[in-house]
Amino acid sequence: MTSVLVTGANRGIGYEFVRQYAAEGARIFAACRNPAKADALKALAAPSGGKITLHSLEVTDDASIAALARELSGEAIDILINNAGIKGDLHVFEPANSALWEKVMRTNVIAPFRMAENFRPHLERGTRRIILNISSGRGSHLRHRGDGIAYCASKAALNSSMYGLSVAWKNDNFIVVMIAPGPVQTDMNPEARLTPEFSIGAMRKVIANLTTADNGRYLDYENKDVLW
Ligand SMILES: NC(=O)c1ccc[n+]([C@@H]2O[C@H](COP(=O)([O-])OP(=O)(O)OC[C@H]3O[C@@H](n4cnc5c(N)ncnc54)[C@H](OP(=O)(O)O)[C@@H]3O)[C@@H](O)[C@H]2O)c1
Repeated sequence: MTSVLVTGANRGIGYEFVRQYAAEGARIFAACRNPAKADALKALAAPSGGKITLHSLEVTDDASIAALARELSGEAIDILINNAGIKGDLHVFEPANSALWEKVMRTNVIAPFRMAENFRPHLERGTRRIILNISSGRGSHLRHRGDGIAYCASKAALNSSMYGLSVAWKNDNFIVVMIAPGPVQTDMNPEARLTPEFSIGAMRKVIANLTTADNGRYLDYENKDVLW
């Protein structure tokens, strides 16, 4: 049985990953900031017979990540989905707001890296060793429009740091990829073109076919390479 750990699992893209993997019978560790208030997630988990469990995780807090790794010690995880993210200044230009930049970088770049480090033992116990990082087309230099600069920079930095990890861990059969989900209708992007059902369904097909030959790729939901 495939086992999946999803961050930011309570809504948006993360929630849809949980819903779709649950429908195929996977074991899901659904991590979010406030499980007690994650009503939709609780409703999915209740009839799952323990296949979906909810876990508290604040990704910007190293201690919270370490605590979850301890809580799940001994578990095998096939796919880590680093999904939790914030848009920061996406739709407006904000002159250098240091606090905002630090929050965006901590959430979108440092946290996924910390997750990979802390969950390496769990992934080694699994069969696929996939670290799937939810990036964005806006991590590509080709997509700069002069706004959302902190967000775009954070996704480019996520791509670069995870590419580094893909090189560092390649001899241990890890598959580290950065994936652009497309414009998906969520709280972050309500006017977007794609439904979560469609984007996550497409990404699941990509994930199902990943091999070590894909390690280090920056790809999109249609398995097309994205220009860095
Ligand atoms: N939607 C799009 O069009 C699109 C396109 C490209 C990339 N993405 C990426 O896809 C990912 C998911 O985005 P989404 O569209 O689903 O956005 P969303 O609906 O705003 O959901 C964001 C999720 O991240 C969680 N999160 C944020 N900061 C967190 C923290 N410090 N600790 C733990 N969880 C945290 C949120 O939890 P709370 O509910 O507690 O805030 C929520 O579950 C992000 O990485 C985003 O950059 C989205």
